[in-house]
Amino acid sequence: MRYSTLDKIITEFDTGLRTLLAKPYSVRPHPDQDVAEASLSSTDKQHAAALMRINQTGEVCAQALYSGQALTARTAATSNTMQQAAREETEHLAWCESRIHELGGRTSLLNPLFYAGSFAIGAIAGALGDKWSLGFLEETEKQVGEHLNSHLNQLPAADEKSRKIVEQMRTDEAKHANDAKHLGAAELPTPVKFCMKHMSKVMTATTYHI
Ligand SMILES: [Fe+2]
Ligand SMILES: [Fe+2]
Repeated sequence: MRYSTLDKIITEFDTGLRTLLAKPYSVRPHPDQDVAEASLSSTDKQHAAALMRINQTGEVCAQALYSGQALTARTAATSNTMQQAAREETEHLAWCESRIHELGGRTSLLNPLFYAGSFAIGAIAGALGDKWSLGFLEETEKQVGEHLNSHLNQLPAADEKSRKIVEQMRTDEAKHANDAKHLGAAELPTPVKFCMKHMSKVMTATTYHI
């Protein structure tokens, strides 16, 4: 079945509204479901909730990137891969959101802004051609993996529930990077990788507080 440009725009607009407004659902059990809640100080809770807020915004950005890429992908195979990746990130969204609420925190007020910016970047990456689009996906997932490693060092040692979630996300992101590589991802130029790192630093610095 072939979809028109208007069909694709409506589908991706729907994805955007769901990401920002609907409660995400996880098919897989939440990775922390069998872990007991630790008794954390209010400072530790606040810190852990802020880190999980950053991760939740990161997942919102991932949804937007893949949705933008799906819109402008040249082939149906790449478009389907992007839509599948976006669906899998929904589970990460669900895990992060539950954990933030358990810790007494809230999601970032800046999510709509980051969604719009990431969607535009994704659409541009998709328009450059599938090998670049997949290269962008692979690099994004690699950088997210590095970022999750740093969060495992920063989370309170006793917060085993948040750690379980971050560890499973790290495993999934590594798989997404690997899938993109096998589909023919091109290696991005170093300045592009540098820009991506810089932009994610801006996102993490702001969403820790807002
Ligand atoms: Fe993710
Ligand atoms: Fe991912």
